[in-house]
Formats: sequence, structure tokens, C-alpha cells
Amino acid sequence: ASKSVKLNTGAEIPTVGLGTWKSAPGEVEHAVEFALKNGYTHIDTAAAYKNEKEVGAGIKASGVPRESIFLTTKLDNPDQKEAPEALELSLKNLGTSYLDLWLMHWPAPMTKGEPALADKTHDWLDTWKSMEALYKAHPDKLRAIGVSNFSVEFLERLLAAAEVVPAVNQIEIHPSCPSEDVVAFCRAKGIAVTAYSPLGSDNSPLLTNAVVVKLAEKHGVSPANVLISLQANKEGVAVLPKSVTNARILSNAVIIDLSDEEIKELHKIDETHHFRACHPDWTGWGGLGFPDCK
Ligand code: A2P
Repeated sequence: ASKSVKLNTGAEIPTVGLGTWKSAPGEVEHAVEFALKNGYTHIDTAAAYKNEKEVGAGIKASGVPRESIFLTTKLDNPDQKEAPEALELSLKNLGTSYLDLWLMHWPAPMTKGEPALADKTHDWLDTWKSMEALYKAHPDKLRAIGVSNFSVEFLERLLAAAEVVPAVNQIEIHPSCPSEDVVAFCRAKGIAVTAYSPLGSDNSPLLTNAVVVKLAEKHGVSPANVLISLQANKEGVAVLPKSVTNARILSNAVIIDLSDEEIKELHKIDETHHFRACHPDWTGWGGLGFPDCK
């Protein structure tokens, strides 16, 4: 696996980044600091994770120069009508003057307040247009823009109208949710993919899956290494394992080579054990109908 993936902007995104979804305040600052001090150069967060301030503090505490770090955050669903303000707030919270990558978190504009509901008065395509305008007007603040949780159908609608092809589509990928159609589509269109929840998120059955354990023993690594390496071995894919545990943060950065046969065997797991770790209450989201969110 290569150490980075080239984006359609010409920039390189490091193949392994630290994920911070579900990393609580009080834990995430240390995790980010520890990761950066130990060789990570890629950190992924989101306004919706409510931890941007702590991520920013971790970056500062690490002493690693900002220019050496690839930093991603995401525009939250209820902020889709106010992209410029949301960008400024994320920059402020992260304590940085620019983002390496800013993603539309979901193709799902939502209302503010609880419960957040689908905002039928706004089209996410208009959100992309605001993001494009910000990207063009402020290259000093945005080095790349992209999307997240986009299926092929949603990407097709975006590309038909977009002036800027997204640099990245960030989606859930692991053996029980391989999303191969999205990965193939993105590869064909020059969109890099970042894989979130590569382990299957918390309490994942994948870590004790017989095929994963067998390959881990064969290669002398942990099951997590097999699952992370599975994504890192794919052309055009970077991977975002989340951990707030020092030993795991270190270990998760170790990538091994897997053969095509081994990759096929891992992908077969989906035939009998399909699941998604990220399953918002789709009905509460107004029946947005993501075709691949099974
Ligand atoms: P923790 O953060 O407490 O270390 P994913 O990246 O798929 O979202 O998975 C994140 C989950 O997997 C978290 O619960 C995280 O726990 C756990 N995890 C991260 N790295 C490892 C590892 N190397 N071995 C086992 N569990 C891990």
C-alpha cells in the first residue's frame, strides 16, 4: 500500500488518518496529540462530532507544524444553509487558518434544534454550490472540498451539476459493508475515497470473525491490522481507524500487504454478515432514501 493517495487537486492525502467519530471530549485531545507525536499526519473530524476544539488543542499540544498535517472537518447537516458561517466556526474551533479538506457530511439538509428533521426547503445541491463558491473565493482557507455518505446515485446527481468535482467521498467501508459500487464509481471519476469505521466501529464482530482472525494469525498481526490494511491496499482509498487508546493508535498505523485472494475472502464476509455501523434514524431524517444505507 502506498503512503498517500493523490487527490484531484494534486495534493496527497496520507493513507492512514486518525478517525475521531465518538471520541469524547476529555479523550480526543490526548489521542490527537499522541497520534501526531507518533507519526500520524492525517486527522479527521466533523462539526457534528462536537470535538473540534479538543482536536485543535491536540494539534497545538503536539507541537507538529500545521503544514505537516492533513486536517479534515465536515459541514454539519443543520448548517447547510449557512456554509460560510459554519466554515468560520470550524476554523475558529480547530484553531487553524485553513482546512486541507472540507466535506458535506451528508446529502441531508436538516433543521436546527431537537429533534433535527429533514429540511425540505433546501436542496443539498445548493449546499455544494455554496461550498464551491467558498473554495473558489478562499483558496487560503480551503485546499479541497468533498462529500461524505454519498451513494452512486447521489454522486451522479452532484456530478451532473458540479463545477468542482469533489476531491473525496468519505463513506463507511469494512468487510460487512464493502461499498464496492461506490469505490469503483469514485475511482472512475477521480474522486478519492476515505473509509470510516474500517473496524466496524464499537464492539465490532469483525474483530473476532474467523476469516479476519485466521489472516491476522497468518501475517502475525492483530485483527484490526487486517481490517485497516484491507482498505489501505485499495487503489484510491485512504482509511480512518478511530481510537483513543495509545497502544491501538500506534498499532493501527501498521499496514500489511494482502493478496487479491485474501481481499476476496474478506469481502465474502458481507454475503453472510452484512451490517452498517452508522445508521441514523432514516425515517426521522425524512425518508431521504439513501439507497446503500441498508
Ligand atoms: P478505542 O477508541 O476505545 O480504542 P472504527 O475505526 O471502525 O470506528 O472502530 C473504532 C472502535 O474500535 C473503537 O471502539 C475503538 O476503541 C476500537 N479499536 C480501535 N483500534 C482497535 C484495535 N487495534 N483493536 C481493537 N479495537 C480497536
